[in-house]
This record gives sequence, structure tokens and C-alpha cells, in this order.
Amino acid sequence: MNTIPFLHPAAQFHALREEILAATTSVLAGGRYILGPEVQALETEIAAQCRAGFGVGVNSGSDALTLALHALGVGPGDEVITSPFTYIAPAESIHQLGAKIVFADIDPRYFTLDAADVGRRVTSRTKAILPVHLFGQAAPMEELLKLGLPVVEDAAQAIGARRHGLPVGGIGKMGCLSFYPTKNLGACGDGGMVITSDEALERVLRRSRVHGISQRYHHESHGFNTRLDELQAAILRVKLRYLEGWNVRRRELAARYNAGLTELPVELPLTAPGNEHVFHVYAIQNDQRDALQAHLAERGIPTIIYYPVPLHRQRCYADQGWRQGDFPATERVSERILPLPMYPELTNEQVDRVIEEIRAFFE
Ligand SMILES: Cc1ncc(COP(=O)(O)O)c(C=O)c1O
Repeated sequence: MNTIPFLHPAAQFHALREEILAATTSVLAGGRYILGPEVQALETEIAAQCRAGFGVGVNSGSDALTLALHALGVGPGDEVITSPFTYIAPAESIHQLGAKIVFADIDPRYFTLDAADVGRRVTSRTKAILPVHLFGQAAPMEELLKLGLPVVEDAAQAIGARRHGLPVGGIGKMGCLSFYPTKNLGACGDGGMVITSDEALERVLRRSRVHGISQRYHHESHGFNTRLDELQAAILRVKLRYLEGWNVRRRELAARYNAGLTELPVELPLTAPGNEHVFHVYAIQNDQRDALQAHLAERGIPTIIYYPVPLHRQRCYADQGWRQGDFPATERVSERILPLPMYPELTNEQVDRVIEEIRAFFE
């Protein structure tokens, strides 16, 4: 029985081996390893891709979020509203800056923030809204922007996705990207970027990613050390040329899953009107999720649950006072969600085998 890998980050290296080796060899031979011309070129190319003015390359998507909130001046006494159904990074970035995490529930149809619930949680202390474009589709940006607060987009999982024709990352005040290896645009290590069209914010971001310096050994403001390296930037520039095609392939695979699973008692992932989804994750839902996951694993189809424990139920936040029942849509989705293998190199035959095994479970 052949295993179908859940993720396959090396596949792109094998497909682009010559181009990647040429790009990285040139960096290695050049001797400029941190924040050099490759990073600068990548910043320009990604900003253009997001239809924004500037990109600021940093060490990870997590750092991009922290830097973006820091640039807005988020600190103790402030509140930032975000989603409890996602990876921990957005909540963690708020907490790291000493501000209060305020969760709003998700819209269970799309897994992104419920804008009406966000609206109910705005107070005089709300400094920003931090929506996550989860699994590759945009949060309801226009509804969130109407609330009149700075919106920092967590676009870590959604580079290339659009909402009403606008690329994510460039819609709000700032957008944050992750280049973690399994992302739609993945490096061979950590990497991230903040996108903005605000020149003043761009200056602050550039300064704070290198210890707040204005010129060598002169520190104008408090900062961090979160720099993108040239090797990762060179690899990402090669891969960026293929991103659009890879995202198209992800949509084809999602359509194939949808067609094959449509008659079965599972809920298929929905795309919100106006969204162009890039299927970072393709996830179905079912009440027998754990049994279905075990059934697939026994047949060579291992899967990973995103996310089994909502953020308001994580032990690290036990002192924050949230309880089971606080975010019902999030809790229900966490118990029922089952992501299936999804990456551009997945073959039609592999998708068909996953469909067959799911079918067999229900027969
Ligand atoms: C939604 C989301 N935000 C932020 C991050 C953080 O990115 P990184 O792992 O590059 O720090 C990730 C992923 O890893 C993510 O999925």
C-alpha cells in the first residue's frame, strides 16, 4: 500500500532543482547573506503581487505579525480582536506586546472571522483588528474595514488569494505573510514579510526589524532582530514565478475532491462570494471525524487536524478566563474538521484514492 503524504515540501525542490541550485549558488558565492539584493528584489516583487507599495522581509510570519502590531503602537492597555480558530501566532503576537487578546467567533461556513461578532467586541481600547485569511480564503475584509479601525491581515496561509479582485495582504493597513516551507509560497527554512502601502509604517518596520537602527549603531527606537536571509529570498524568487500556476492546480484538486465527495455525508469547504480561494488547506467536516481519520490512516492516508484545540482553550491561556462554550462555532468546527492531503504536486489518482477510501468508510 502506497502512502499518500499529507504534505510534500521537497516536491518543489525536485521539480525546480536546477533553478534553485543556480540561485542559491550565486548567493553563496557572492558573500552577502542577510538583507541584500535578493531580499530587496523579493520585497518589490511580492509588494507588486499584493498590489501594495512596500514589502519588508522578516524572519517568519510570526515576527511579521508582531512587527506590524508594534508599528501600530500596540502595547499594554490596548485590545486587538482576532480569531480563536487558527494557528497561535496572531494571538501570540498580541500577547507578546502586552496587549489584550480579544477573540471573536468565526463564520463556520468559511472558517474566517464573523464580522458581526467582531463589531460586538469593539471597545474604546480596540487598537486593531487582526483577521486571518484561513486555509487560503480571505476574511470579510470590506465588512471589517467598515468598523473604522486599522486592519492587519494575517495572510500567512493565503498568498495569491483575492477578495472582490483584490489580492490579500494589500487590502488592510498591513498584511503579513509566512514563507514556512509548507505554505503556498514556501522557503527552505523560515521567512516572512510585512506588506504595506503606508510610507511612514514602512520606515518604522524597516527600522524595527534591525534593532530600531537609523544608521549603524544608532538606535532610534526599540526593535527586534528579525531579518530575512538572502538564500531564502533567492529560493522564494524562483518559486514566486510558479505560484499562480500552483494555486490554479490547488483549485483544480479542490474541485476534484468536491465532485468526488458530493454525495457523501460530509460537509465540503465553501468559498465565500467574491473570494478566489487558494486552498492552502482543503478540509471537510463530519461528526465521525476521529473514526474517519483513523480509517484513512490505516489505509496509508495520514492526516493532521487543523485545529484540534481552539486558542481560547489552550493551556497557555488558562489564566485569561475563557471557557468552553465562549465561541460555539469555533468549538464545533474544531471537533468536526478533517483536512485532506493538498499540495500542487498531488496527482489526480491520489485524490481519487482518498475519495474512494472516504466512500468506503461510509458504505
Ligand atoms: C495563520 C498563520 N499565521 C501565522 C503563522 C506564522 O507563520 P510562521 O510559521 O512563518 O511564523 C502561520 C503559520 O505557520 C499561520 O498559519
